[in-house]
Formats: sequence, C-alpha cells, structure tokens
Amino acid sequence: AGFLPFEHAPYFDFTDPGVAQAQKDAFALVRSRHVGRTFPLLIGGEAVNGAGTFAVSNPGDTREQVWHFQNATSEQLEQAVQAAQNAFQSWQVSDPLQRATVFMRAAQLLRARRMEFNAVMVLENGKNWAEADGEVAECVDHFEVFARETLKWAQGKPVYPMPDEHVTTVYEPIGVVAVISPWNFPAAIPLGMALGAIAAGNTVVWKPASETPLSSYLMVELLFQAGLPRDVIQFLTGGDDVLGDPLVDHAGIRMIAFTGSREIGCRIYERAAKVQPGQKWLKRVMAEMGGKDATVVCADSDLDAAAAGIAQAAFGYAGQKCSACSRAIVEDSVYDVVLSKVKAHAEAMVVGLPESNAATGPVIHGGSLERILKFVEDGRKSATLVTGGEKPEGELHGAYFSPTIFGDVQPADPLFQQEIFGPVLTFTRARDWRHALDLANDSAYGLTGSFYSRDPQKISEARRLFHVGNLYINRKCTGALSGTHAFGGYGMSGTNAKVGGPDYLFWFLQTKTVAQRY
Ligand code: NAD
Ligand code: ALA
Repeated sequence: AGFLPFEHAPYFDFTDPGVAQAQKDAFALVRSRHVGRTFPLLIGGEAVNGAGTFAVSNPGDTREQVWHFQNATSEQLEQAVQAAQNAFQSWQVSDPLQRATVFMRAAQLLRARRMEFNAVMVLENGKNWAEADGEVAECVDHFEVFARETLKWAQGKPVYPMPDEHVTTVYEPIGVVAVISPWNFPAAIPLGMALGAIAAGNTVVWKPASETPLSSYLMVELLFQAGLPRDVIQFLTGGDDVLGDPLVDHAGIRMIAFTGSREIGCRIYERAAKVQPGQKWLKRVMAEMGGKDATVVCADSDLDAAAAGIAQAAFGYAGQKCSACSRAIVEDSVYDVVLSKVKAHAEAMVVGLPESNAATGPVIHGGSLERILKFVEDGRKSATLVTGGEKPEGELHGAYFSPTIFGDVQPADPLFQQEIFGPVLTFTRARDWRHALDLANDSAYGLTGSFYSRDPQKISEARRLFHVGNLYINRKCTGALSGTHAFGGYGMSGTNAKVGGPDYLFWFLQTKTVAQRY
C-alpha cells in the first residue's frame, strides 16, 4: 500500500509556553468531558452496565475520584467470550488492507487528541506530562507500525520450490485473544497486544488494570471511531476474582496475551497449560513480566552521560517501569564519582504533582508504597543509604517517595535481586568491567540493560554477553520505540514476545502449508 515512509511520532516540547498552555487546557477539557463519568463495559458492540461500579482515583491527589468503571459479572464474561467468538467468524476473513486502513485512521484521530489522552493518563496513572506524552506517542507509532505489519504478514512467505507441486505458506488467525495488561503503561501495552491480535485477524477480550481503565477505554473507542467493527473488541473491567483465573481458564479463549508481574505471568502460564472440557486447542500464552535492569559503567565511559542516563531511567515515573534502571554496577575506580553525580541528579529532582509536571510523581497506590518501604527498611540494615529513603516534605496527598539510592549493595541482597517497582536504585562496585557484566547477569530477570564505555572491544563483548532482550549502549535503558526497539526480555522477564518487532504478529498466527498438484 502507498504508505508514507515511517517516522516516529515526535514528542511535544513542553518548555514552549504555547505547548505547555495547550496541555493545561487539555486538563480543563478532561475535567469537563470525563471527570465524574461512569464508563460501561463493551460487549458485542453494546455498552452495558455490570454489577455495580468501582472508583478510579488520582494517584497525584488521592482525595480526588476521577471516574467510575463497571464490575463485570461471570455471565458477562461468558457473553464477552461468546461475542468475540461470533465476531471471529467474519473478522478472520476481513481484508488485511481494511485492517491496516483502520489503524492508519486511528493514528490520525489520535494525533488530533494527544493532549487530551495525555491528561487522562496523568490523572489516573500519575505520570508527568512528558512520560504520558511518550506513551501516547508510542500509541501513534503502534498504529502506524501495525498497519504496515498487517500487510507484510498477509503476503505469506516463499518456500523452496519443487517441480511438480505448487506450494504456499500462509499465515492465518487463531481465534479469541484475552488481552490482560498492567497499570504502568495503561494505553500502549494493552494496545500493542490488542493490535497484534486484531492485525492478525483475531478478536479480543480486553481486560485492563483496574487502576487505569480510561486510558485503555479511550483507545478502544478510538479504534471503533476509526472503523473497527464494534464487536471485534470486548472491553471488560472488574475484579480479578471474576476476570482473572476464569478468563484464563475459559475454554473459548485461544490465546492469552499478558503483560504484568512475574507472579501473575507464571500463574497464567501454568493454568493455561490445562486443557479444559470442550477446548479444541492448546492455549498459547504470551507473558511479558518484570525486570531488575542494570546499567554497567566502565571507567573509560562518559561519566556525565552515564550518570544522567542512570538517574533518568531509575527515577523517571518514580521507577515504575519494567525497563527502569534499578541496579547501577560501576567499576571500582569511578564508583565514587558516578555515585556522587547520580546522587546530585536524584536530589535535584522535584517530587510533586504530576498535573503540575513535577520531575517525578507518586507511586501508583499506598499498597505499592508499603512494599517499597519494607525494602527500604531492610536495606538500611544491609547496605548504605546514600540519599532519600523517606517521604518528601510538603502538602502531597498520595503515595509519594523520594528518589532513593543505596550504596555498597551486595549481589545476594534482595535489594539487588527483587523487582521493587519504585524510585529505589542500588549501587554495586565491580572489580573491573568483566566483573561488572557478571554482576549485571546475576539476576533471574533479563529485560533491559545499559552499557557505558568508549572502548569498541568492551562494547563488542557486552553485545555478546549481556543477557537481556533489550541492550542499550551509551544510552539509558528506558524508552523503547515501537517498530525500532522490539521490546521483550530474557529469563524470568517472560516469553520474549518483542512487541513492536518484525516477528510480533507471528505470535497471533498459525501457519498453513498448501501443496497442490495439477
Ligand atoms: P499484575 O501482574 O499485578 O497485574 C497485571 C494484570 O493482571 C492486571 O490487569 C490484573 O488485574 C491481572 N490479573 C491479576 N490476577 C490475575 C489472574 N489470576 N489471572 C489473570 N490476570 C490477572 O501487574 P501490575 O502490578 O499491574 O504491573 C506491574 C508489573 O508489570 C511489574 O512487574 C512490571 O515489571 C510488569 N511489566 C512488564 C512489562 C514488560 O513488557 N515486560 C511492561 C510493563 C509492566
Ligand atoms: N517500553 C517501555 C520502555 O522501553 C517499557 O521503557
């Protein structure tokens, strides 16, 4: 198709007063358009109510309830799976060009509403403007990338020929995909998984995280507005008792596309292995899970760049990214200087209200803060607290926590091994750069990693030895771009699905070989 050459959606420059004012205006728009509303479930193209609703609160100021969503019932889960199965009968034979065109139109519609979508995300998720903007821009990229991938995979692939048979290999959709997503990328993550499913010709039951459903809902509505038949996605919100195990176990589900914690990912992987009565396939599971991502700093590197990259990746969005740098591993000879530079960055970061665009905001809720506090309490005994370790001062109404650094952290320490998912960074000394790589690889996870050096020999060794799915050389380990930095990890970071990558759609397809003689 005649698409223009691909370009990533540029970010807004909020230092421009006009752009900043437009973002402020969008908060006013969202407060008048969305705040106070109750949103429905979407089943078989109909908007329906569940059995009561739940409130979504603003993590930046938890006194504010922003909107309400439905608690789906078990019967509605049944109806949603049935509706998705019905819709599959026609969507599986839809024209790939139609699918690609819907995605391109959705990209256009989203470009026009980015500021509004940013504001929604800030209010329900606690990202600051730039973090929300980065994610909404990623959604534009996803639409553009998946449009192109749809057409690419629709072509099939050539086979080695034989003289007396005409043989083709084509890719066909598989059925109903359950999309289950976390709160920390409430739009881009479920959208990436859902687009993978839909691009391949499957239909979807979309279950967002309860903390952040509106960022998901708006993407579904946008797709419908762009021309997606309204029964292709069923949107269900509610409790994990109704939509967790029962959705995963359902015999009508062909695949589970999950992103979230290691605990739930492993649970889904195990449960989905059981063939349920009436089930006519082996369920496929995509499970993208946590990280304990390291940045290695070699003595020969640009130490200022390394320190800035570590601080941004560790404390941006309060460290709540699977890709966040949570371990700095530094060669002994430059350890003290890098630590003091990162400490200076951490202490300069203003912790405050996301809506006011503070450098770093709250963690998602009180439960998350409690977990972080426990790590910090134990860390005070096992390591050296360098900075932070406390709630920031000021009139803040949310689960705020100061950027925190522990020094002299040993590899066996839980601080070094477990995903904390907050603004907590460890520093560990390495004897030399090879030791630093060994320490970086001393983890059950293997999602992202950064390696800072100017030495081509070391860089080439790091490329080979650093055991992660996303390795970044001389740059921070967050901020993967759709279509370019295919995203997904090694080890207990999950199934290495590589969203936004050239092979992602294969996850949602099955391969048919047809050999014909004349
Ligand atoms: P979570 O695992 O608690 O929840 C994720 C989703 O699973 C939610 O929608 C939740 O309602 C649902 N769920 C809960 N119980 C379930 C069950 N029994 N069966 C099916 N679904 C169930 O994760 P979270 O706290 O929302 O997100 C944070 C985690 O996500 C972190 O570990 C982070 O590293 C990870 N994450 C990974 C990636 C990646 O690409 N690898 C990206 C973002 C976040
Ligand atoms: N895709 C997100 C990043 O790369 C998680 O930071």
